[in-house]
Amino acid sequence: MNGKRKRLFLIDDDVLAMNELKQKLDSSTYVQVCGEATKIDEVWPRIQATQPDIVVVGSVKQTEVGVLCQQIRFQFPQIMFIAACSARELHWEPFFRNLGIWVLTKPVEVSQLEILSCQSGLGGMHPMNGIAATASTVFPPPLPAALTISETRNEPAYPSTPHEDKHLITVYGPKGGVGKTFLSRELAIYFTQQKKEGRPLKVLAVDFNLDLGTIATSLNLPRTPNLFTWVKEIDDQLAQIVRNEGKEPESLTHQEWQEYTMAARISPQDIQKYVVIHPDTNLHVLTSPRDIRQSFEIKDYHLYLILETLKRSDYDVVFIDTAPDTTDATIQALFFAQKVVMVGNPVVDAIENIQRMLKLLREAEYPEERIQICINRVQRREMFTVEEIRAYFQLHPGKVLYTIPDDQEVKRSINTGVPLMLYPGKSAAKDSIEALGNSLVMTDKGGTVEAQGNNGKEKKKRQPLFSWLRKS
Ligand SMILES: Nc1ncnc2c1ncn2[C@@H]1O[C@H](COP(=O)(O)OP(=O)(O)O)[C@@H](O)[C@H]1O
Ligand SMILES: [Mg+2]
Repeated sequence: MNGKRKRLFLIDDDVLAMNELKQKLDSSTYVQVCGEATKIDEVWPRIQATQPDIVVVGSVKQTEVGVLCQQIRFQFPQIMFIAACSARELHWEPFFRNLGIWVLTKPVEVSQLEILSCQSGLGGMHPMNGIAATASTVFPPPLPAALTISETRNEPAYPSTPHEDKHLITVYGPKGGVGKTFLSRELAIYFTQQKKEGRPLKVLAVDFNLDLGTIATSLNLPRTPNLFTWVKEIDDQLAQIVRNEGKEPESLTHQEWQEYTMAARISPQDIQKYVVIHPDTNLHVLTSPRDIRQSFEIKDYHLYLILETLKRSDYDVVFIDTAPDTTDATIQALFFAQKVVMVGNPVVDAIENIQRMLKLLREAEYPEERIQICINRVQRREMFTVEEIRAYFQLHPGKVLYTIPDDQEVKRSINTGVPLMLYPGKSAAKDSIEALGNSLVMTDKGGTVEAQGNNGKEKKKRQPLFSWLRKS
């Protein structure tokens, strides 16, 4: 029986609670304690030494439970995680569940652990829904050096280019039709017209709206090659590695695919094979699949590998357009991004959803200075003032809330595939998109790294909020 018992690793700085639980677990025929840590620096070597099936994380000083679980999972994707929360910590539950971490309230009962232990090893069981997960179990945590993947199974490691100058920007909005795709396209086009140290920027737009993406259409571009072309190539290469190891790819579980992916590295030069190029601007576009069914075949580990490769690429700016959801593609794009443009409209449901999303990200200690909030399609008379919206979002006083006016040219610009930013002459919408762009990336034109928490300097040229409304 012993051999079949699931091996638990306990992490808690509350030694008394840990000992109590250990005592209770002594009599279990389903689970056994294989290791424990009461301090953060004990966690990593002991997990490596004991290779548990399940890690139960209680309170830990100097770290945050979600991040810790993700760091361990990065190296050991097969481990199941259970957060043991006190009543005070229960508000974290949705966040943990979203990260694929089970949640139990303290004091943890042996029977609860026994029930959950039956789920471990079932290949992607997920606390969000209790069924085989398509939801993410792989996020990009801030990795300590010891976890950085540097070897491949059969390919040389490609040298990483420094990331400081790269800009991976995710355009997100927790509601459909608010202008994410429009803004992704316009911002990407804007940066193709900008230079850095006299050299035109290399810009890529990526359509992470995997099933119903429209970036290609909105630029009159073909949809082949696309992300799915890349995914098939990744699968072929991984299958070859698996066969070289004498295994049948068909027999691999989702977790095993994750493990193989974690050890693989793609050359960033390969991205060129999968992009289409916008002839007028040299914008590179990685479009979503042609067929909705193909999007179902794109898994969390593909997305991870793709994002990780994009981050190492030599593009100066990468814009990722997302769907208004919390699927793998979107959440991973948010976690990989150096900046996020959070888009909404001045409508109560869009505003409420942004607030809910901000709450979730704040609870996850997501760095808020990465987020630029943009209210799109603002008309002359709105029910809510910018100040009211700012107050509702509880924004830091130094943080700018960007607004883009409703512009009747937009519809035509989308229908004809000609970006607004390429229209001749000035317009309020173009100015506002430029102001938003300049808050994201520094170019020869200037731009700003304005954000909450920096030195408080704001861009000199910044227009007062809603100034374009006062023009007539
Ligand atoms: N600033 C704007 N002014 C006028 N219409 C806009 C503006 N932004 C977006 N739209 C309209 O809203 C529609 C939905 O925009 P889209 O970018 O596809 O939204 P999302 O990607 O968030 O679903 C577009 O087709 C366009 O007609
Ligand atoms: Mg869209």
